Amino acid sequence: MEIVVDDRAPQRAAEVIALRVLRNPRLILGLATGRTMQPVYAELITLFIRGEVSFRDVRTVNLDEYVGLGVEHAGSFAREMSERFFRHVDIDPANTHLPNGAAADADTEADRFEHLISRLGGIDLQLLGIGRSGHIGFNEPPSALHSRTRVVTLTPTTRRQNAAAFGGDPARVPERAITMGVATIMDSRELLVVATGAAKADVVAAAVEGPVTTMVSASAVQGHPRCLLIVDEAAARGLNRRRS
Ligand code: GLP
Repeated sequence: MEIVVDDRAPQRAAEVIALRVLRNPRLILGLATGRTMQPVYAELITLFIRGEVSFRDVRTVNLDEYVGLGVEHAGSFAREMSERFFRHVDIDPANTHLPNGAAADADTEADRFEHLISRLGGIDLQLLGIGRSGHIGFNEPPSALHSRTRVVTLTPTTRRQNAAAFGGDPARVPERAITMGVATIMDSRELLVVATGAAKADVVAAAVEGPVTTMVSASAVQGHPRCLLIVDEAAARGLNRRRS
């Protein structure tokens, strides 16, 4: 794992994504939601407006979506992606893929999504945040390291963490989600993990220096041959070994 500590972490992450797109305009790009990613997308939009990158031929797949929520729901990740990124750049909406939270059968939808990733030829670069419960995607503890895209039950910690998009009420956050599995994520040819802020220091330390365990699905990335972790100073505070 390569570790970069930089207070411009989101901008650095956006620059990495833009470089990969420049090298391969038809990149299969795995995307993530959450507050950490908001400045990453803002920077990508800036780079697009400046003419430094185009997403015209990029295909995207997102990590996860809440069960029961379609794009019309303000709390859905589909809506978040559209509002924070897709509609500001030249990406073809037909090339953007999220699990359909509104599908009649969530298990079937999870299988469809896993097959879609295979049909696209696998993910070239997967962007990842880390949740307070140590998750990547919505791979809550315990999540098998061999898990594939599936329906999961969210922990109370995660529902509290994500309550802001639901009027601040954790009870209104859906109880279940469809998430790429840990193994699905690990099959990506490259991982780009981003974490910012003091609240992430403990989970970053656990993910990077702790044991690889189903209880912290982010720890799985230790085994990836091509993983770049970009953190700011506050999120790096718990790390013993640091390189910058
Ligand atoms: C959500 C997403 C994760 C994300 C995590 C961190 O639960 N499913 O993919 O990494 O939150 O969120 P934030 O960046 O808001 O801290």
